[in-house]
Amino acid sequence: MTQTVIAIDGPSGTGKSSTSKAVAAKLGLSYLDTGAQYRAITWWMLNNGVDVDDPVAVADASGKPAIVSGTDPADPTITVDGEDVTGPIRGQDVTSAVSAVSAVPEVRARMVEFQRAVAAAASGGIVVEGRDIGTTVFPDAPVKIFLTASAEARAARRSGELKGAVSVADTQAALARRDAADSGRTTSPLAMAADAIEVDTTRLSLDEVVERVVTLVEEKRAVRDR
Ligand code: DC
Repeated sequence: MTQTVIAIDGPSGTGKSSTSKAVAAKLGLSYLDTGAQYRAITWWMLNNGVDVDDPVAVADASGKPAIVSGTDPADPTITVDGEDVTGPIRGQDVTSAVSAVSAVPEVRARMVEFQRAVAAAASGGIVVEGRDIGTTVFPDAPVKIFLTASAEARAARRSGELKGAVSVADTQAALARRDAADSGRTTSPLAMAADAIEVDTTRLSLDEVVERVVTLVEEKRAVRDR
């Protein structure tokens, strides 16, 4: 059975994860962070001696790690071969390598299949966040949101999350590099679906963004139930 999917896409630093978790919690839905899955497979490649800059080696290894995603928005866990990698996948080494790994078509094919299976198993609907959810993974999702924010706001947020360990200027440059890689890849690049609603979060608080998305979901439900 196809579950109700709320697709939330956009580049990093737009408040995607915080918004998606809060919307899922508020509406009593499951939650899936697809970026964490691409990070988890990247973590596995780095830890198993796979050259992440060699697409053939990455493709050959892409079926090996067993990734399991928890779908509780209050505690979104992720394991690789039974090991909890929630912390390690946020490390700088993974962040630097993840765009190259996620550009490999075999990796994407496996992740998309996996994401559809997680959603099918979630009872009562799921909020799925990523880059290609509204365009490729769930093109029929009844609600599609695309979050944006100015380059400055995104860098300031990311630098804040890293507790100032990386300057705002360096963070902005790193985000721009990752955006270019994620938007420029051939297989399902970061893109806004034609029927997605864009929400610019530059001048909005998290609560305001969440409220806006929840209202959009409720409006869709009201139309559906009429
Ligand atoms: O959301 P994030 O920063 O944790 O995502 C990490 C990387 O994963 C991002 O640079 C691109 C990739 N990604 C992707 O290609 N497709 C998705 N649906 C989600 C993430």
